[in-house]
Amino acid sequence: MHEVEKYIRSIPDFPEPGIIFRDVTTVMKDPNGLKIAIDSMIDKVKDLDFDVVVGLEARGFALGTPIAYALNKGFVLVRKKGKLPCETISEEYDLEYGTAEIEIHVDAIKPGQRVVITDDLIATGGTVKAAIDLVERLGGVVVGCVFLMELAGLKGREKLEGYRVDSVVAYEGK
Ligand code: PRP
Ligand code: MG
Repeated sequence: MHEVEKYIRSIPDFPEPGIIFRDVTTVMKDPNGLKIAIDSMIDKVKDLDFDVVVGLEARGFALGTPIAYALNKGFVLVRKKGKLPCETISEEYDLEYGTAEIEIHVDAIKPGQRVVITDDLIATGGTVKAAIDLVERLGGVVVGCVFLMELAGLKGREKLEGYRVDSVVAYEGK
């Protein structure tokens, strides 16, 4: 068991029966939990040659920014539709529960920039796949994706074939 696991709160049957919700708020509110989480994610990507961290709203912001700061990289926000003020491109995707759309500023990534994508969780992989598509439409090169948690039973990795994917804690189920 990874040290960070004891800080992750598991909520059975949320938001629907049969789903166990993995709650990152209990990791982040604890100074030790937060430190272990960020340090463990940094460990997964520190060997990579890259320029910028892209974080996925909302929980990917909270975990991605300290990773970028620690590794002296910039941080780019991928937001839910309608939040970014300048010219954007967007991608629709299927969520675990419903559909959604995310956006990035067109000038957020320069062609050839090497990108690491961060989020708290990979479930179906729909969100991160949409983010990869946004980065690549701008000419960015995705060199890795790092998550604190992975719901391996949902097979999100299968959507990311050919990309490097790392998670700190992988749960077998959904
Ligand atoms: C959750 C989670 C990931 C995404 C994973 O975010 O934080 O971003 O779902 O699901 P997927 O792999 O099936 O796409 P959510 O969209 O609930 O929003 P939030 O982070 O803004 O709370
Ligand atoms: Mg999210």
